[in-house]
Amino acid sequence: MRQAGYRLAEDASLAGRNTFGVEARAEWLADVHEPDALPDLLAQPWVRFAPLLVLGEGSNLLLAGDVPGLVLCLTRARIAVLEDDAGSALVEADAGVNWNDLVRWTLGRGLCGLENLALIPGTVGAAPIQNIGAYGTEIGEFIDSVAVLDRETLRPRELGGGECRFGYRDSVFRRAPEQYLITAVRLRLPKARAVRTGYAGVGEELAAMGVQGEPSHRQVAEAIGRLRTRKLPNPALLGNAGSFFKNPVVAAEVADALKAAHPGLPVHPGDSAATRKLSAAWLIEQAGWKGHREGDAGVAAQHALVLVNHGRASGAELLRLAGRIAGSVQARFGVALEPEPRIVGGRFQPLPPAEAAA
Ligand code: FAD
Ligand code: EPU
Repeated sequence: MRQAGYRLAEDASLAGRNTFGVEARAEWLADVHEPDALPDLLAQPWVRFAPLLVLGEGSNLLLAGDVPGLVLCLTRARIAVLEDDAGSALVEADAGVNWNDLVRWTLGRGLCGLENLALIPGTVGAAPIQNIGAYGTEIGEFIDSVAVLDRETLRPRELGGGECRFGYRDSVFRRAPEQYLITAVRLRLPKARAVRTGYAGVGEELAAMGVQGEPSHRQVAEAIGRLRTRKLPNPALLGNAGSFFKNPVVAAEVADALKAAHPGLPVHPGDSAATRKLSAAWLIEQAGWKGHREGDAGVAAQHALVLVNHGRASGAELLRLAGRIAGSVQARFGVALEPEPRIVGGRFQPLPPAEAAA
């Protein structure tokens, strides 16, 4: 059904719209190409109080069941420079822009900062939700403001970077998932900036590329792209949503005690001096899950933090496997794992140790 500014379908399959590739159906699915149509669409009585899921490319979602209410995709994909001065530019990108397209677009215009975030799947609209991060950089550093439609008032609003409350895989948007529809993101990007190549493996990759001396920002993006391609399964070939769990942030004393008992455990600084971040991949691998497979649900052979769909796994099967993994890590190390992707149509629950043995 075509309306002004959007296309609506009833009982639509979402199998091609999530990178796990699991089957689930949306009661209603709207592809919105004109953001100005949103207030009228959302004001309609059948939408006003119905469940709403804003969907990007589905690369950080686990659909554990069918989705009631409205699934809404923002598809407009414009990029514009709003301000340009000697040191930086203010770039605005629509929610529907592919994230890596934006990274390439900015690097191609001599703007830097996003190179360490190259090749992260998904849309610009989803990037602030969990404050996407990789290889020592998070998007929050560059966000000038986020343009949203507030679902409660049906009015557009702009949140400044500080109001977004970015943290590790966290933001105000993640905490109130049905309140804001992100329509565009504004990034302040510098024209010169020291490259960040300190994350494990980046220097080696640049050396393997034959780069000598200070690399360019584009070379750093390429090195990170190569590392990512090697380390993570490609969702087009093997369904996955990247890291399934966040790296757990624990009190420094807890990390010290674990490190004393398990010297191999990678421990990194946390959000404050009193906390540390542990490697979830290491904990999961030590608990015996790397490469594990049950039917078509499994754990990637090349990275213990990535749950995979070998073909026809359901979202519920993947969710149950995630619960078993978390239960076994809790039993063995006393550390709670929290899923990173949004779980829709099901509830994540660590399963007791009896059910959790790998
Ligand atoms: P979706 O999965 O469609 O949605 C994710 C969440 O955002 C949902 O809660 C959804 O409701 C919400 N959302 C989406 N768009 C909007 C909007 N316009 N307004 C309001 N809410 C919205 N993430 C990292 O941080 N770092 C990585 O290195 C990384 N690597 C990955 C590697 C692989 C192989 C994969 C598959 C995923 C990886 N991810 C990584 C996770 C994922 O790429 C990011 O979370 C990405 O931002 C999700 O974008 P999406 O468009 O697919 O969002
Ligand atoms: N490790 C293992 N076993 C494995 C893989 C890794 O023990 O199978 C250990 C190694 O010691 C390794 C350490 O874990 O040094 C860290 O691994 P990696 O560099 O792959 O990083 P990560 O902590 O597993 C995080 C993000 C990724 C991001 C990378 C690079 C989270 C939850 N994940 O992964 O983000 O790309 O760092 O910055 O923070 C995502 O969010 O979906 C994602 C892929």
